[in-house]
Amino acid sequence: MKFDRCKPYNNLPSLPPTIDLESRTILKKCVGAHRALASLKGAGNLIPNQAILINAIPLQEAKASSEIENVVTTRDKLYQASILPGAATDPQTKEVLRYRTALRRGYDLLKTQSISTSLLRGVCEVLLDHEVQYRTAPGTQIENKSTGEVVYTPPEGGEILREKLDRLENFIHLRDEIPLDPLVRLALIHYQFEAVHPFEDGNGRTGRILNILYLVEQGLLDIPVLYLSRYIIDHKSDYYRLLQAVTEEQEWEAWVQFMLSAVEETSAGTYRRILAIRKLLDETTALCRENLPRQIYSRELVEMIFVQPYSKISFVVDAGIAQRQTAAEYLQQLEKIGVLESRKVGREKVFIHPALLKLLSGQ
Ligand SMILES: Nc1ncnc2c1ncn2[C@@H]1O[C@H](COP(=O)(O)OP(=O)(O)O)[C@@H](O)[C@H]1O
Ligand SMILES: [Mg+2]
Repeated sequence: MKFDRCKPYNNLPSLPPTIDLESRTILKKCVGAHRALASLKGAGNLIPNQAILINAIPLQEAKASSEIENVVTTRDKLYQASILPGAATDPQTKEVLRYRTALRRGYDLLKTQSISTSLLRGVCEVLLDHEVQYRTAPGTQIENKSTGEVVYTPPEGGEILREKLDRLENFIHLRDEIPLDPLVRLALIHYQFEAVHPFEDGNGRTGRILNILYLVEQGLLDIPVLYLSRYIIDHKSDYYRLLQAVTEEQEWEAWVQFMLSAVEETSAGTYRRILAIRKLLDETTALCRENLPRQIYSRELVEMIFVQPYSKISFVVDAGIAQRQTAAEYLQQLEKIGVLESRKVGREKVFIHPALLKLLSGQ
């Protein structure tokens, strides 16, 4: 019988699929993806101030992952809003910023608890900025955004959903019982989460946050710095097509390969970006040491302008680098030697770090 896209998929099977998931291609891709991920994990230590990574890279991830759902903003608006939370900001930019907050919330929770459906519900609540319940009413469907045609109807009924989520949660924590590579599991888990589609909205983004949290929980990353949605947005139609092919044809092989490529490519890309940040940090340190007045130069000051590509006077004060009266002078000196560029936003003066901005905005 042909799969009916308009009928709730209440027969969605539990994980793991009953097919061989260890083809030669998959095993080979696992090796490459693990190697890239391990380099990325190690690269975290190259940056002395972890706030630099934890701020900058998840913001890129937030932007790409939200864009997959047509929640679109510009880098400029995003950086500006991230340092001027009180300023008038459009709703889409706010939503992207909340994605980063949601990712962080999940990461913080992981320090005291393991991944669970209630943790993910909490993440989704931060993302959407309102209370979120598991779906109980029928009517949620996934449509093809360009044609409006229904492509998938997730399972319906509170009890069915609960059961599928419990099983997914169990699978997330099985280890030795099912000898599958953690990256293969990641692919299975992401598909399953999307296929269950537990919430009315926010499933795509919560499922992509889950990817990063899972890597952290598995010890494959220390901090949530993988820019995985970069690959997904670059291959968006494959992403949708392959999710659908799992449902309709049990085509797991191509889906797992897709996710392994995503991990490998984006780990390598994020790694290169971290190396580039490190290099810029060294060059900027040298430049500042040479050109700033002696009483102004400090390592902390240079690191501070790497935490975000946009800075403001209170950052200098909050970092304990200077008092309010002199903090402005510090940033002006950085502007004078060509490291920062100032711009007025309302009554606030914002200092942009163009070299860092360029580096973060690159592919
Ligand atoms: N055919 C499909 N089967 C299962 N999941 C899908 C399919 N097509 C898309 N998805 C998932 O559904 C997500 C969109 O769901 P939605 O709840 O609107 O997420 P968000 O609110 O984050 O926009 C997509 O990002 C993708 O992860
Ligand atoms: Mg949506």
